[in-house]
Amino acid sequence: MSQSKGPRTDKFKELDRKNQEALMGGGEKRIEQQHNKGKLTARERVLLLLDENSFEELGKFVLHRGKDFGLDKEYYLGDGVVTGYGTIDGRLVYVFSQDFTVFGGSLSETHAEKIVKIMDLAMKNGAPLIGLNDSGGARIQEGVVSLGGYADIFYRNVMASGVIPQISAILGPCAGGAVYSPAMTDFIFMVENTSFMFVTGPNVVKTVTHENVTAEELGGATTHSTKSGVTHFSCANEAECISQIKRLFSFIPQNCEDPAPRLPYPGGDEKRPGLNDIIPSNPNQPYDMREVIAGTVDDGSFFEVHKNFAENMVVGFARLAGRSIGIVGNQPASLAGVLDIDASVKGARFVRFCDSFNIPLLVLEDVPGFLPGTDQEWNGIIVNGAKLLYAFSEATVPRVTVITRKAYGGAYDVMNSKHIGADMNYAWPSAEIAVMGAKGAAEIIFKKEISESTDPEAKLAEKVDTYTRKFANPYKAAHRGYIDEVIYPEQTREKLIRAFQMLENKVAVLPKKKHGNIPL
Ligand code: HXC
Repeated sequence: MSQSKGPRTDKFKELDRKNQEALMGGGEKRIEQQHNKGKLTARERVLLLLDENSFEELGKFVLHRGKDFGLDKEYYLGDGVVTGYGTIDGRLVYVFSQDFTVFGGSLSETHAEKIVKIMDLAMKNGAPLIGLNDSGGARIQEGVVSLGGYADIFYRNVMASGVIPQISAILGPCAGGAVYSPAMTDFIFMVENTSFMFVTGPNVVKTVTHENVTAEELGGATTHSTKSGVTHFSCANEAECISQIKRLFSFIPQNCEDPAPRLPYPGGDEKRPGLNDIIPSNPNQPYDMREVIAGTVDDGSFFEVHKNFAENMVVGFARLAGRSIGIVGNQPASLAGVLDIDASVKGARFVRFCDSFNIPLLVLEDVPGFLPGTDQEWNGIIVNGAKLLYAFSEATVPRVTVITRKAYGGAYDVMNSKHIGADMNYAWPSAEIAVMGAKGAAEIIFKKEISESTDPEAKLAEKVDTYTRKFANPYKAAHRGYIDEVIYPEQTREKLIRAFQMLENKVAVLPKKKHGNIPL
């Protein structure tokens, strides 16, 4: 006997509607509250991030287990976090998205278990993890089990580091120990005025240090993108944030064994005469290294990382003949492009990301040396500068350097010199590869001769000229083979395309060790 399926299907639909309502964390009012703050809901964020109809949700029916402080009277399906997998541009990705409308997005035992489940899946299946954070931290009513949940996540962040890319967006509060999960991921995005991160909030700060500071000043997107460098990207709103995450995603591979996605590239005339006009005739005049980047890479492909932090160093992804590369450049337009603590750490972190994930490195060098001063010395320019040196030295991806102008002193060694394992080193004719600038050098080594001269100024000028002709050029280094070729700026793109093609199957093996000891 056949049975009608109609009523049963309706019952399922009705149940599902109720569940969906519950999943929204208490219905329309809470969603409206979230929207009124200029924020999307957890689910809206996931749907905006992933390809249409690609999201598969896991753990929809999970409920918290805590019973204290009224938790036994209030339940929400999913327990304040939407988790699952889907695709971005057809590529698999795992996502969690915290729902502030459920107990302030706080992390309970089960909320943590849901995140852990997708982290484990992401690791086993070699796909990136994206965390959308919007949470009041540990669920206070649950006590130590929520702290344990955080530690379970932290541990997996570390295990996954260098295996799969991990991206965090902070889309609301992220306070206390909770900040350490995003901190251990590869990239952090924040949204201006709606997100903040701090270990201790404004109230505690006031009690302990008597400072009056707002949440935004203490740990907002502007603070972390300019002062602390904690966030790599500061976005005007959530839609922009999600579109920037997708752009970043387009440059990076699925895991440490895969190559980065490659776009088809038809090829053509690779000469870029515009590059010939960038270096000013006065060697002390600044120029914007971004112009060199724009003139070299595939049109409009440069995606800058950490844009507003340590502006004397420019880092970011781009495409060269369709292939993803990481760029590390000194920036003469800011502090003359010196290496200081922040720039060294910024560069080192980026180099290590690219090396972990098979992204070749291009270094554009114009550096007058390390920044002098008590501030830098007392805050550890020695160990911090060493981070960049260490990061380049241990990187085994294809590494190419172009010296556009200055390569002075220790900074010459640090900025991906041949001696620390760079594969191809080019210099423009304007390059000055020397221990220091000609004037400083002449003042030291010809000090006596200059001071005893009847016309010290003319003597100094003569000695500067002698030094410049002898050392302030790329040819001494090229005679030694430290520079593979002196090229005209307009040839740069063509040379780089060929060099990176030549290096495509590079194999470099580091000495057997447990792990190195980067100077932290
Ligand atoms: C349980 C929480 C919560 C939490 C917020 N809520 N945080 N419930 N555990 N940690 C609940 C509130 O009770 C409220 O419930 C709802 O979420 C919204 O919170 P509001 O305070 O009304 O929102 P808002 O004014 O926007 O303030 C958001 C906030 C604030 C800044 C996040 O709620 C706050 O300071 N929360 C506590 C933050 C904190 O100290 N967390 C512990 C950090 S230590 P109702 O029902 O009223 O809507 C930590 C340790 C990590 O996380 C361990 C790692 C080692």
